[in-house]
Amino acid sequence: MGPACGGGAWQQRADVVVIGTGVAGLAAALAAHRAGRRVVVLSKAGETATFYAQGGIAVVVPETDDSIEAHVADTLAAGGGLCDPDAVTSIVSAGYAAVAELVDDGARFDEAAPGRWAMTREGGHTRRRIIHAGGDATGAEVQRALDHAAATLDVRREHVALEILHDGGAVTGVLVSNADGHGVIHAPSVILATGGLGHLFAATTNPDGSTGDGVALALWAGLPVSDLEFIQFHPTMLYDGHAGGRRPLITEALRGEGAFLVDARGDSITAGVHPMGDLAPRDVVAAAIDARLAATGDRCAFLDARSIPGFATRFPTVTAACLAAGIDPTRQPIPVVPGAHYSCGGVATDVYGRTPLAGLFAAGEVARTGMHGANRLASNSLLEGLVVGSRAGRVAAQHAHDQGSVRARMTTPRVRPVLARGDLQAAMSRHASVVRDGAGLRALAEALGSASDRTPVRRADFEDAALTVTAAAVAAAALERTETRGCHHRSDFPDTDSARAVSTMLGLDQAGRPVVSQPAEVCC
Ligand code: SIN
Repeated sequence: MGPACGGGAWQQRADVVVIGTGVAGLAAALAAHRAGRRVVVLSKAGETATFYAQGGIAVVVPETDDSIEAHVADTLAAGGGLCDPDAVTSIVSAGYAAVAELVDDGARFDEAAPGRWAMTREGGHTRRRIIHAGGDATGAEVQRALDHAAATLDVRREHVALEILHDGGAVTGVLVSNADGHGVIHAPSVILATGGLGHLFAATTNPDGSTGDGVALALWAGLPVSDLEFIQFHPTMLYDGHAGGRRPLITEALRGEGAFLVDARGDSITAGVHPMGDLAPRDVVAAAIDARLAATGDRCAFLDARSIPGFATRFPTVTAACLAAGIDPTRQPIPVVPGAHYSCGGVATDVYGRTPLAGLFAAGEVARTGMHGANRLASNSLLEGLVVGSRAGRVAAQHAHDQGSVRARMTTPRVRPVLARGDLQAAMSRHASVVRDGAGLRALAEALGSASDRTPVRRADFEDAALTVTAAAVAAAALERTETRGCHHRSDFPDTDSARAVSTMLGLDQAGRPVVSQPAEVCC
């Protein structure tokens, strides 16, 4: 620990601070470390969303029937008119090299034959281009390889980043809380790799730490966030009667291998809904399930995977989750519901993770690069985290080198509006779920407006403050988007408005309330 300073706060120094230890965070940290910079990695929690990723990594493998053009086309088709084609091409084109680097770091993917990766399909993909590991434990293998590669890095567990510090023009450090209280790490480069925001909702596939931290830190630092209304609900989260917290994912790769969705009467959920049927993009499938449940009053739909040969070997993670819930997926259809899964929007960045604030970078789910648009294509997230994480690490290292030593002002945690987590999750689940309407979103905004002031220092309080400002931003963005597009469905505006194929940008006003700027091209 560094020397004590005024008010008992501690201080330390780094060249690059990375907040988060999932795929984007560790790819960034390794790249900055390999560029010779002094890197500190902050982690508030043990679990990452990367660890829980099942399906795989979408990647164009050379000398197959696949092509960069086809992967880009599928990504744009899923993205509902809001992807940035240049960003998609840039990230997809860099995919194979990024995966090869991960293999150099020790990751091992399933093989169909020695030296040839096994490839599966997921919703919205026109090719089998998803590589996987351990059957359906891809994220665990990616996390294992990156944790191993990063074993010699300075990773601080149970450290919560409370505020990004800057001098108005450039980053100067991070205000952090740990077991010794709060302190400042002076640093010219900070990378947000904090993951997503699934715990805005009562039930989610995300780990406990997915509480919108990076979006909140960026908003509080005066930065724009973009496309936050596009929250992806995975069509198949296990329904076992338990309503809350992290719920097991039932990977879309099951449908890639022939599983199909039915209702309680055995009728297809997706027949006639989309030409790709059960392998339609996931916003389409999630909305179809939601509509069927609303029409029938059923509590869940069913995924019939009984025809998949060697199920337990190919899908050991799903098998374990089902068996734990008393369901044998080889003998009975798996009960499923749509669940909050992925934030397509986030902190506005370019494809190198650069934000408009010099020295602040964002990568992975927390960022909006233009890759996902209004709806992310399955298995594009580990790809984006790897590619943009590494790039952000490299440019952050260069920025730190160019900037030299910086000094942040010493500061203390600020007062933030906080709504009790249970109330917030109930309001979000009721009004901002798969299908929204104006009246519900206004009621949500009103509930969030009743938040009371607290000074968050410890993790739970900080997360509640982050959830509150992030929920307010989601509500504002969703209210602003008076159309249905991608994974944002408005029952009061059921059509897509071709004039609205532009991203939503918003920031905070002087009073800390989210304000939507004119819809605009995201540009850094
Ligand atoms: C899944 O395995 O279905 C999830 C993959 C993803 O979210 O991209």
